[in-house]
Amino acid sequence: MKKRKKQGSVERASREAGKPVSASRVEMVEVVLPNDANPLGNILGGRVMHLMDIAAAIAAHRHSNSYVVTASVDYVDFRNPIRVGELIVLKSSVNRVFHSSMEVGVKVFSESVLTGERKHTSSAYLTFVALDDERQPKSVPPLILETDEDRRRFREAEQRRRIRLAHRHKRPLPGV
Ligand SMILES: CC(C)(COP(=O)(O)OP(=O)(O)OC[C@H]1O[C@@H](n2cnc3c(N)ncnc32)[C@H](O)[C@@H]1OP(=O)(O)O)[C@@H](O)C(=O)NCCC(=O)NCCS
Repeated sequence: MKKRKKQGSVERASREAGKPVSASRVEMVEVVLPNDANPLGNILGGRVMHLMDIAAAIAAHRHSNSYVVTASVDYVDFRNPIRVGELIVLKSSVNRVFHSSMEVGVKVFSESVLTGERKHTSSAYLTFVALDDERQPKSVPPLILETDEDRRRFREAEQRRRIRLAHRHKRPLPGV
């Protein structure tokens, strides 16, 4: 009983204090195998999107210490192919916390195992919602911004959220 009380107060304290972006940042690496590829020997776009969802969800889990669901995925493009035998590297971090939702940015790179050369191949912003035991949205700890990059991403996330929610609620897009 005492232990649970203490645990509860620790959780409350960390919720109030927030968490730095660096505490939930993710770097995920996989080798691209023939099973992941199209007939040209390039990774399938759907496989990249699957890995993006996972890399982003891990950052959201780490930040919120909760179950999360993907609420939305913004525009994804594929700038360069990733070949069988290359590495796919995914970097994700929480850009902004709203109330129960978090915007997570993911950047994808190919990496040659022979030269180490990295190429940026895709980027996307995903929104996750943290859920409680009743599967209802629950609030998540605020984000502590430590670097200029953290602050820039935080600032820019606000406008993207407005656009997303306008789409969701079929409202006119801001600034259009
Ligand atoms: C995401 C989900 C939990 C939102 O539930 P809801 O009843 O609409 O809840 P609310 O309207 O209270 O919104 C909760 C939060 O989600 C955000 N949200 C909901 N839809 C969103 C969208 N399309 N884009 C961005 N944020 C969204 C709201 O802005 C709110 O954020 P806030 O608390 O930070 O302000 C619900 O729609 C759901 O379960 N969707 C399916 C998720 C899923 O299964 N994903 C896997 C792929 S199918």
